[in-house]
Amino acid sequence: MRADATHPFTIRRYERLASTNDTARALVAEGVPHGTVVWALSQSAGRGRQGRSWVSPPGNLYASVILRLRAPVPRLSDLGFLAALGVADALDGVPGLRGRAQLKWPNDVLLEGRKVAGILPEAMIAADASHAVILGIGINLREAPTGTPYPATCLAANGAADVTPERMLDALLLPALARWLARWEAEGFEPARRAWMDRAYGLGGNGRLRSGDGWLEGRLIALDQDGALLVETAAGPRRITAGEVAFGPAQAGGADGVASPDAPAAACP
Ligand code: BTN
Repeated sequence: MRADATHPFTIRRYERLASTNDTARALVAEGVPHGTVVWALSQSAGRGRQGRSWVSPPGNLYASVILRLRAPVPRLSDLGFLAALGVADALDGVPGLRGRAQLKWPNDVLLEGRKVAGILPEAMIAADASHAVILGIGINLREAPTGTPYPATCLAANGAADVTPERMLDALLLPALARWLARWEAEGFEPARRAWMDRAYGLGGNGRLRSGDGWLEGRLIALDQDGALLVETAAGPRRITAGEVAFGPAQAGGADGVASPDAPAAACP
């Protein structure tokens, strides 16, 4: 840790990687300590949720945080929510963005209904049988992908054009993530659950949920104490533990619309 550090993480910086999550997995196998962060300026094979790719040109943030925790395995699912809250708090620290970030189940971060950041949590068991969690975090600072099945945006399109990946990671995101991890270790998931609900996008309204092979529709009620989404459907209450949420009508060709923005997106320069 640097003498002036505001977080306990150790950052390893790379010019370009295939995927910071893949490099993090290799480092876990080599035995790197808890709190190692893999940061790349660009990725050639960035990975997203649901088997999607994550477009990763220079200018955005691509980082994977390695955590070696003693938490029981079921509680490891909490960490994706902590990462999303860390990103939302980090965006609060950017002039003009305070209070604007919203969260979409399970771990997406939105600005004005458009996805600005995604989290790819991955758990692995190292050779010494210890558990590790890798929190892959991508934040669109200057660029946002086009042609995605969901509307995307970047900070630059939201009046915050001067945030570098280094500042976002070192000064904003990692301190925020450290605060959430410390609180979770001291108080459990409940404070994070409440904070997530306060920022939740679309709660109380109707959404479509990809669950298993199909989609179901219902009213999004709450996040429960295990991170599952409680949904009221025509067939009764459902508890969704995996999948993703979409809003608005299904898109043609089976594409899964994710957020229904209120306004047209400003272009990311
Ligand atoms: C999502 O689909 O919402 C998750 C996107 C996660 C992208 C980040 S970028 C850093 C890390 N490395 C990867 O290959 N993916 C994650």
